[in-house]
Amino acid sequence: AATGAQAKPLAGRSAIVTSGPTHEPIDPVRYIANRSSGRQGHAIAEALAQAGAAVTLVSGPTRLADPAGVETVHVETAQQMLDACLTALPADIAVCAAAVADWRVSGKADQKLKKDSGSLPSLALTENPDILATLSKTGSTRPALVVGFAAETEAVLEHAMAKRKRKGCDWILANDVSEGTGTFGGDRNRIHFIDENGHQDWPDSTKVEVATTLTEKIAAHFAGTTT
Ligand code: CTP
Ligand code: CA
Repeated sequence: AATGAQAKPLAGRSAIVTSGPTHEPIDPVRYIANRSSGRQGHAIAEALAQAGAAVTLVSGPTRLADPAGVETVHVETAQQMLDACLTALPADIAVCAAAVADWRVSGKADQKLKKDSGSLPSLALTENPDILATLSKTGSTRPALVVGFAAETEAVLEHAMAKRKRKGCDWILANDVSEGTGTFGGDRNRIHFIDENGHQDWPDSTKVEVATTLTEKIAAHFAGTTT
């Protein structure tokens, strides 16, 4: 347990954390969303702040209260989330825990879509910007440590390791979000931690425990030690 001088190991460091889902509008009253609760990202923001970091939490719509001691920026769409993250740079640490919608509706309707228009609507989609990949490739303003998650339903380690390389981040916390695991929207998480050296399997934990373990790892990283 942290004591004395070690209690604020991240004092003087700054962090950006993304959390929650994004909402991608279809028309003025409808949107595309996902089941993310924001619990994991919010817990990480709070744990980093408790360790002394200056934290900007960029959150999509959730039912959670803003964490204590954290500057929270509320956004709805992936594009807004990216803009808020870029505005929050520079930072020493970025943790992307948001379940960003992979696609948005291209050419969202300015008026509510109506049933009596004569035909069924079809939604054309376009890919959203990848916030984790963008932050990993910001050149001179790249945070020293960029951490992402990988939500997978099969071949979890394999997919997550490939994701780490593709996105250019330093660490990936992979989790199995298959139906029945209860991870997505739930309280618990089983993490496979992946860095350039390989992977560690963390025990089944609450999301608050995962936040604490990650924060300890980040503090050790900046202290030049390993865990
Ligand atoms: N991520 C992001 N911006 C996106 C999509 C994902 O920042 N537009 C981040 C997530 O916050 C997470 C990581 O990238 O930290 C991996 O997200 P995931 O959905 O698992 O990966 P994708 O690259 O979107 O691939 P896929 O959903 O097809 O598995
Ligand atoms: Ca995705």
